[in-house]
Amino acid sequence: MSRVIQAAYVAVAASTILLVACSKERPEGGATLAATAEKAPPAPATNAAVRPNYWQDIGPLFRDKCIDCHGDATAAGFVLSSYDHVLARASMVRHAVAGRHMPPWGIESGCGTFDHDPGLAADQVALVTTWIDNGMPEGDPRSAPPPTPRKELVQPLAGPLTTLSFGQGYEPGPGDAIDRCFLVEGADVAAGFVTGLSLPRDAGLRQVTLFAVDTDSAADAARALDAADAEPGFRCPTQRLANTRVLASVTSGEPVLRLPSGTGFALTAKQRFIAQTQFEILFSDRSIRRGEISLLVEANARPARWVEVRADASKVKTNERAATIEEWSVIQGAGQVYGVYPFMRRLATSLQLRIDRPEGRGRRCMIQQTSWQYPMLRVPRFYTSPIPLEAGSLGVLSCRYNTLEFSAVAAGVSRAVDEECAALLYLVD
Ligand code: HEC
Repeated sequence: MSRVIQAAYVAVAASTILLVACSKERPEGGATLAATAEKAPPAPATNAAVRPNYWQDIGPLFRDKCIDCHGDATAAGFVLSSYDHVLARASMVRHAVAGRHMPPWGIESGCGTFDHDPGLAADQVALVTTWIDNGMPEGDPRSAPPPTPRKELVQPLAGPLTTLSFGQGYEPGPGDAIDRCFLVEGADVAAGFVTGLSLPRDAGLRQVTLFAVDTDSAADAARALDAADAEPGFRCPTQRLANTRVLASVTSGEPVLRLPSGTGFALTAKQRFIAQTQFEILFSDRSIRRGEISLLVEANARPARWVEVRADASKVKTNERAATIEEWSVIQGAGQVYGVYPFMRRLATSLQLRIDRPEGRGRRCMIQQTSWQYPMLRVPRFYTSPIPLEAGSLGVLSCRYNTLEFSAVAAGVSRAVDEECAALLYLVD
């Protein structure tokens, strides 16, 4: 709390300095490319002593928090690693930081303690917005703090990986943002446990959600969908196919996923899968570069499973900015909960899960996900330490959607909102 007040105080102080230092009229809008409807930020101020400035404040912060993904154009489409780059995107950056869309995460603190929280603290958000509102002073390169050793880039999975290929010959069309599903069979998968997944960096994929296909009839059902569709693969069905299990998702922003140490999902030899794929719309040549995902399969692990807490998303009202559903259900299972995997789609904006212990022994907030962005945030999140789940606990789940967007997209078409509301608990017995 005191940090927030302090940040606000710094903000006031900084703008006062600016008024004094730079009271001449600044030309409007020199530096925006963004298509947002916000007013254009003022052109950069030049006074080297003004705080916050790029070299002393913003550059070091972005080096730490943004350029793992915005250091080159492959992961997130554009670069934020120099003053000029940031300047060119200023109003987008302000929007993304103030709205807490970036770094992508959106998990409120105070509800669950998660590994790898990349979010900006309130004072860091204030630093960025103040800097932009003050005209983005550059400062002096000589005053930049010495670079702290940069946090490691995403560590690749160690060990022999099993690579699954899919989607050969498919060309994402104008509906490229739509999920496409591919049955993956014939891969040389050893019996064991999948303990990690990784998406190649330059493959042109934005998200892959992998499902295990556990029976011949489930594989037949997928093959039939594929055969009925002129293009390779098929439109992912609204209802999940019977006898398929969701495993996990990886995204271009978070391309490597490690399951909690010593745990994994059981696979059979020659396991079949469905890869639910979102393509990177920034690649203009349309053909997928490589439909590919790699798995780390280990012989031994403690078996984990996803236990679903689900609410009926077909009840979501259309034509509302904040259509909310909330349901409770008894959670089927007991053990240690290592993580939670918010499972919603494009119209969703937030999700909250609470667990009520049996016999009124108390309740626990499990996750509060805001600023939902389906392509980037549908990934499992793991707690810093596991949470015990007692038999007979209740899961109370609520999801919120903006269905105005849906009404616009589907104008004149009457169909159910194609959404989901589920939170999957990573349970180890
Ligand atoms: C984990 C990877 C990752 C990190 C870290 C990250 N970004 Fe992004 N960012 C992305 C991806 C991926 C996109 C493309 C999203 C899309 O097109 O939907 C993106 C898009 C953006 C956009 C475009 C507008 C928007 O909201 O989608 C802005 C602006 C942005 N990022 C700013 C930042 C800033 C500032 C930081 C650091 C404070 C940051 N990002 C950190 C992955 C990341």
